[in-house]
Amino acid sequence: MLPGVIPFETFDRDTISRYEDKLAIARSLAAGVASGEVIGAGSGSSAFLAIHAIAERFKAGEVADVTLIPTSIEVQLTIASLGLRVGDLAADTPSWLFDGADEVDPDGNLLKGRGGALFREKILFRATTDRRVLVDPSKHVKHLGSRFPVPVEVEPIALSVVIPELEKLFPVEIEIRKAEGKDGPVITEHGNLIVDCRFDGIDPDLEKQIKSITGVVESGLFQGYSPNLVSI
Ligand code: A5P
Repeated sequence: MLPGVIPFETFDRDTISRYEDKLAIARSLAAGVASGEVIGAGSGSSAFLAIHAIAERFKAGEVADVTLIPTSIEVQLTIASLGLRVGDLAADTPSWLFDGADEVDPDGNLLKGRGGALFREKILFRATTDRRVLVDPSKHVKHLGSRFPVPVEVEPIALSVVIPELEKLFPVEIEIRKAEGKDGPVITEHGNLIVDCRFDGIDPDLEKQIKSITGVVESGLFQGYSPNLVSI
């Protein structure tokens, strides 16, 4: 093991849905990485496989000096455990990013945040305009919200103010996300709660409407970011 490399085990392949598809997409993305690049790294299984695919090229000596800026602690540990450089938005500027999505509509609008990393993922989407999104065939939907609720990250002290405001947007279901492996709600890496809001239809400016509520930190809607889809 290289000095300073932190051992970290996360997903095993049996826990990743559509593993073969995601691996092929990850390798195709990794083939486009060049030496010296600073890249934003999203969270989730597709991004995880992409990090591994980049590390494979790094270990084979095909690319050198690659910096990945993580969007979650899990991704930070994965990057470090593979011997790649962990970047930081305070010091590094990404020239592009890769990330997964839970849903993508025909116009390239995204629904994300199943893994709760939506806040830092959104920050990275704002930090570069070259956004490469890894989408296996299961991610395509006609309308956002068909399968997943919209996650909304909320500052805990604002919950009693935010919920009534979210209700004005007519969700059909609204639920505070519960933790697994801990009693009570999910607490994000920024100390916030996730409120999952299921909608029958998603307005083209719902992201902006949700973001305008005081106490909302971010939502998992990514509308109008024109990502480049990486698929098979
Ligand atoms: C993380 O919070 C999410 O936004 C993920 O990017 C999204 O859930 C996609 O995950 P998979 O790549 O695991 O499907």
